[in-house]
Amino acid sequence: MIQFHKVSKVYPPDDTGVKDLTFQVEDGEFLFLCGPSGAGKTTLLRLLFRAEQATEGQVIVSGRNITRLKGKGLTAFRRRLGLVFQDFKLIPWMTALENVSLAADVTGVARRQSRSRAFRLLAELGLKDKYGAFPPALSGGEQQRVAIARALVNDPELVLADEPTGNLDPEMAEETLRLFARIHRQGTTVLIATHDHRFLRRFDGRVLMMRQGRLTGVHGTVWAASAP
Ligand SMILES: Nc1ncnc2c1ncn2[C@@H]1O[C@H](COP(=O)(O)OP(=O)(O)OP(=O)(O)O)[C@@H](O)[C@H]1O
Ligand SMILES: [Mg+2]
Repeated sequence: MIQFHKVSKVYPPDDTGVKDLTFQVEDGEFLFLCGPSGAGKTTLLRLLFRAEQATEGQVIVSGRNITRLKGKGLTAFRRRLGLVFQDFKLIPWMTALENVSLAADVTGVARRQSRSRAFRLLAELGLKDKYGAFPPALSGGEQQRVAIARALVNDPELVLADEPTGNLDPEMAEETLRLFARIHRQGTTVLIATHDHRFLRRFDGRVLMMRQGRLTGVHGTVWAASAP
């Protein structure tokens, strides 16, 4: 379970990232963060994988306050996450398949197994023809899907995705969201920040609405059980 308790983030000197956020996310939830540009969606996700430190308040994940984690504790925590961010940071001299399987290799998974997981995910994301391609030769949307496969290859407990459909055409965007929904059905908690309202109605996730760093509304059913 994730709990934000009165969390604020101020970027020095005085830019508000998020302001006084209190909410919780149950294990296994499928949650969308929505809101206009500057609402604080990316900041919220970055606080959650500790790319940013909260200025005030506590972020608690599985009973542990992560606001002050560092060193090995932080590395171990991040291993449980799958991150899909907009700057994909794919390794340009490695193929799509290698980019994905490497993420499993480094956690100690046997080479054959990590390759077969990578094959399967890339195929599910419509990249069967691109296993051997190098990132600079892939379109933005294709690179994004490779990054998504890489985030999922270690069966993370928690997936955080920032505008994962941003570079995709409508068909591929929906396909990608379906893949996230499938991951969610397998028990993974999934948080997706998006401007993209087009598909939300088709997925039964809860939606947190944000504006100017604050939570402005919640739609969906789990809220009743978990309202702060
Ligand atoms: N590194 C930073 N330094 C200073 N201010 C920042 C920084 N990152 C974000 N902000 C500010 O924090 C606020 C929230 O930004 P954030 O990127 O979290 O919004 P967002 O909802 O992700 O927007 P978008 O939809 O455009 O991605 C904005 O006012 C932004 O200017
Ligand atoms: Mg953002």
